Amino acid sequence: MDTKEIVIKDREHIEDSELLEAARILREGGLVAFPTETVYGLGGNALDEKASEKIYAAKGRPSDNPLIAHVSCLEEVGPLVSRVPEAGRKLMEAFWPGPLTLIFPKSSQVPYATTGGLETVAVRMPDDPVASRLIALAGVPVAAPSANTSGRPSPTTAGHVRDDLSGKIDMIIDGGPVGIGLESTIVDVSGPVPTVLRPGAITMEMLEDILGEVAIDPAILGPMAEGERPKAPGMKYKHYAPKAELTLVEPGTDWDAAETAREAAMIAKVRQLALEAAGEGRRVGIICTDESRACYEDVPGAMLQSIGSRRSQSSVAHNLYQVLREFDDLGAECIFSESFPKDHLGQAIMNRLSKAAGYHIIKA
Ligand code: TXA
Ligand code: MG
Repeated sequence: MDTKEIVIKDREHIEDSELLEAARILREGGLVAFPTETVYGLGGNALDEKASEKIYAAKGRPSDNPLIAHVSCLEEVGPLVSRVPEAGRKLMEAFWPGPLTLIFPKSSQVPYATTGGLETVAVRMPDDPVASRLIALAGVPVAAPSANTSGRPSPTTAGHVRDDLSGKIDMIIDGGPVGIGLESTIVDVSGPVPTVLRPGAITMEMLEDILGEVAIDPAILGPMAEGERPKAPGMKYKHYAPKAELTLVEPGTDWDAAETAREAAMIAKVRQLALEAAGEGRRVGIICTDESRACYEDVPGAMLQSIGSRRSQSSVAHNLYQVLREFDDLGAECIFSESFPKDHLGQAIMNRLSKAAGYHIIKA
């Protein structure tokens, strides 16, 4: 299949004429990749079983892993859900449009092909002018998983989408690099206690401000024990993975030591592991920060990528998937990464890094 590409000239002043063909493709059952504020999505008509099947096929994704239905305004939510629980209403008011996906009991209109056979449906209203206008023009809710091949890091540029899906979908809309860089927070409001199924830019602290108490699915905090199942089916897959073996180094547990001393111990450990692997002749990658880069420059042959500044969680989130893809392209065999505090956006950052590492985590 020929994949058409269009480039949005000015994201703040989009002409409908730029998006009419993409909207028609969606309405007619085709697939269009488009930017959102979190990551690029691979869109298809959420009410069309055949379109959902095409999405699974293009991504190489297991079809028991449900899709998120994207809407452009509140009126489009009603037809997708059988009811809107109080907690859902509060969160929509506080955070939509934005990087928050809510799980509702589904209506009979939404096909099981879109929900992976579940009685619930995931809904999100993205805060991105291209995504929002495209959905409105399509006139249908748009099912959109991240626009990557299943198992690869999510795409944060149109180039990443092209690398994974060119030739497999109808169109790619290039709206430039995304803002946030990590997938939306998912909160299940279909049960008695609102529960976070995937951390993201709407943080635990922000959710608690609105709802008081919020539960967290144990799948977020660490590897699942034998027989346990995460509530978001997608969280069970080793996701977000680079091709190289990734080792995450956490500061030690010497809580009496100052924060800076614990960080220094972590950097020293990353350095030591990288030196050992380089000594064995392996192609080594190091994920450092702007602040620590100089500490590794003398590791022979090591490829260095800064993930951002330790002082800016949003810079780390923004660069994370880009850095993992970069190491794939460079042919790294093993990667050693620093880790980050888990408060605020740090919870989502460490969730994605831990999963990319297959929970291979070493304490300094
Ligand atoms: O930021 C995002 O959410 C991006 C952009 C494109 O909007 N989309 C995205 O979709 O990350 P995807 O398919 O890569 O991740 C969707 C996650 C999966 O882990 C899936 O299992 C979960 O949402 N999910 C979807 N429907 C669900 C449901 N009814 N119950 C529980 N989990 C659900
Ligand atoms: Mg995904």
